[in-house]
Amino acid sequence: MTFFPIETKRLILRKFTPADAEATAAYQGLPEVARYCMWEPRSLERVRELIPRWIAMDGTGENSEGIQYAVVLRTSGALIGDVVLMFEDLAARQGQIGYVMSPAFQGQGYATEAMEAVLAVGFGQVGLHRISARCDARNTGSWRVMEKLGMRREAHFREHAIFKGEWDQELVYAILEDEWRAAQGAN
Ligand SMILES: CC(C)(COP(=O)(O)OP(=O)(O)OC[C@H]1O[C@@H](n2cnc3c(N)ncnc32)[C@H](O)[C@@H]1OP(=O)(O)O)[C@@H](O)C(=O)NCCC(=O)NCCS
Repeated sequence: MTFFPIETKRLILRKFTPADAEATAAYQGLPEVARYCMWEPRSLERVRELIPRWIAMDGTGENSEGIQYAVVLRTSGALIGDVVLMFEDLAARQGQIGYVMSPAFQGQGYATEAMEAVLAVGFGQVGLHRISARCDARNTGSWRVMEKLGMRREAHFREHAIFKGEWDQELVYAILEDEWRAAQGAN
C-alpha cells in the first residue's frame, strides 16, 4: 500500500526527497515558525539529517512512526510546508497530526486543505479510530486549523509544563472516526 501522493484542489502531498532540504530549511529555520513547535529553528544541516527519517516515514511496516508529507503547490511544484500523521498506538488505532507552513503561504487555507486530505487517509486507508492534535493556546493559527477540521477541544492545560523556558498553555483537540464520517456525510 502507498500513501503517496495525495492530490487536493491546490496541493500535492508527496514524499520528501533530499533535494527538498534548502526549501524546507528556508522556513523551518525561522524563529517565528519554530516558536510553538517542539524544536528550535533548524539549520540546513539539521534538515539534511532529518530528511532520511522523513522519507522512511511512509506509513508501512510494523514499526512505522507514521506518514510524513512534503506539501507542494500543484501550479508551480514549490514546496510550501510539511505535514505529518503520527501513529501513536496502532492497537488502539490512535494518530496525531502536525503541520508547518512557510510564512509566505500562511493564512490561505493551505494547512486546512492539506489536513483534510490527511484525515481522510488516516480514517480511510490507515483505519484509525481517533486522531488528535496539540498546540500552544497562543498559537491561534494552529488551533483554528483544528477547529476548521471539525476537531473537538478536549483539554486546555494551564501551566502543566515548562515550554521553551516559560509556563505552557497546551490545547488538545481530537476527532473520532464516526464524528469524521458524520461530518463527511453532512457536507
Ligand atoms: C499553524 C499553521 C500551519 C497554519 O497554517 P495556515 O496555512 O496559515 O492555516 P489556514 O490558512 O488553513 O488556517 C489558519 C486559520 O487561523 C487564522 N489565524 C492565523 N493566525 C492567526 C492569528 N494570529 N490570529 C487569529 N487568527 C489567526 C487564519 O485566519 C485562519 O482562519 P480562518 O480561515 O478562519 O480565517 C501556520 O500558521 C504555521 O506553520 N505556523 C508555524 C508552525 C506551527 O506553529 N505549526 C503548528 C505547531 S502545533
